[in-house]
Amino acid sequence: MQQTDEKATIIIGDQQIELPVLIGTEGHKSIDISRLFEEYGITTFDPSLGSTSMCQSTITYIDGDKGILRYRGIPIEQFDRPKPNFIEVAWLLIFGYLPTRQELNEFRDLLTANEMLHEELRDQFNNVPPKSPPMAILSAMLSQLACYYEKFLPLGDDDLFIEAAGRLISKARTIAAYSYRRSKGLPYIYPDPALRYCANFLHMMFSIPYQQYIIGEEIEDAMNLVLILHADHEQNCSTSAVRVVGSAKANLFASCAAGVSALWGPLHGGANVEVMKMLEAINSGGMDPKDCINAAKDKDNPYKLYGFGHRVYKNYDPRAKILRAAADRVFARQKINDPLLDIARQLEEYALNDSYFIDRKLYPNVDFYSGILLRAIGIPTNMFTVIFAMGRLPGWIAQWKEQHDNTTQKIIRPRQLYVGKKLNDYVPIGER
Ligand code: SDX
Repeated sequence: MQQTDEKATIIIGDQQIELPVLIGTEGHKSIDISRLFEEYGITTFDPSLGSTSMCQSTITYIDGDKGILRYRGIPIEQFDRPKPNFIEVAWLLIFGYLPTRQELNEFRDLLTANEMLHEELRDQFNNVPPKSPPMAILSAMLSQLACYYEKFLPLGDDDLFIEAAGRLISKARTIAAYSYRRSKGLPYIYPDPALRYCANFLHMMFSIPYQQYIIGEEIEDAMNLVLILHADHEQNCSTSAVRVVGSAKANLFASCAAGVSALWGPLHGGANVEVMKMLEAINSGGMDPKDCINAAKDKDNPYKLYGFGHRVYKNYDPRAKILRAAADRVFARQKINDPLLDIARQLEEYALNDSYFIDRKLYPNVDFYSGILLRAIGIPTNMFTVIFAMGRLPGWIAQWKEQHDNTTQKIIRPRQLYVGKKLNDYVPIGER
């Protein structure tokens, strides 16, 4: 971050306050108000932080107007390549550079060495009701990792951090698969150390005793791509939650468990499930695409066109474009025609030609096509947000580490604008 020679001036009554103006790599300017309250007793008001930079970061860059997304400067489109590699991107996000072959192999070995759960932790899956929401299980089990891997909780030791990060990324995958197996009343399948990250996940999801699930190359590639596209997205709701919790020096497991809880919301990571419900309602004849569009436009109706709109993108989410093309590829190779893809395209066509959506710059976001591709991979709808969390883990870890390594970072504690009662007195109950 660089300070410019420019100043921002705030004039309140006869008070004139000059503030520094900072500038980011791509020319974005930000007024430094960090000392405003301390020096002038004044705060700014921005309830959803939509106009507030809560940190400086080198991890992900988004230009919402141009539909640009880059991980450590690399455009997201460049990860849509033959043999996409989620673990390579995880390393890039966390450590800031693409790994050498040796580094990648060593990281893979760390993940493989930590793919199993402690047997007591695995047994705990039998204590949750079978119909438990997988996101509730994921959040609870990530927090539980602190019970079994206490030695990785202290902060400040880089070797411990890498060990903790590897455990988290690897075990989250096993926890995700086991939450699915629990919901189906199926036996838990041990991870296979001979398989790579995504293949091992699909093995634990779909193999049955004495019959290994055969993973097609295009399915493994599609799974890697889905996780890569969800890996980070700068200061979204769940990443901000991870930063806030981490700013209190909470450990990595607890901070990422907080991220899972935030991601569960239907306005955030839970939207991919809502998109599928919407598409299935249309496919079953319960709704017409036009009904969806009209309901979404009706101010008296809380209905939203899920998978559309974004806090930052006021253009097509570049991830949605890649996911849509990947869904086409997988369906073509599998020679299947999913009616939900046709319905999604029809909805997109209606919305992108409707002034309500055009005027508000509402375009498809990552969640609009991700569910269709996950369905093609064979992932059930109730697991979609869990997959989102698996993908987002390296981003949460990278952002948590970046904040932790910033020695000037203080605990995040926003102010408020109090609009409650003036001075008041307690009234004993007998006099009320
Ligand atoms: C993710 O932040 C991230 O980076 C998140 C994410 C990530 O990778 O981490 O990209 C992942 O969360 C993607 C978003 C998934 N959520 C959805 O698809 C849910 C549906 N979308 C909306 O809820 C909404 O678009 C939000 C929450 C995503 C964004 O909300 P904003 O930017 O605050 O938009 P807004 O509420 O200010 O809306 C502006 C106008 C409003 O109408 P007016 O009051 O101006 O008349 O657009 C309308 C809104 O009612 N609007 C929609 C709409 N989204 C916004 N109307 C109908 N359907 C929608 N989907």
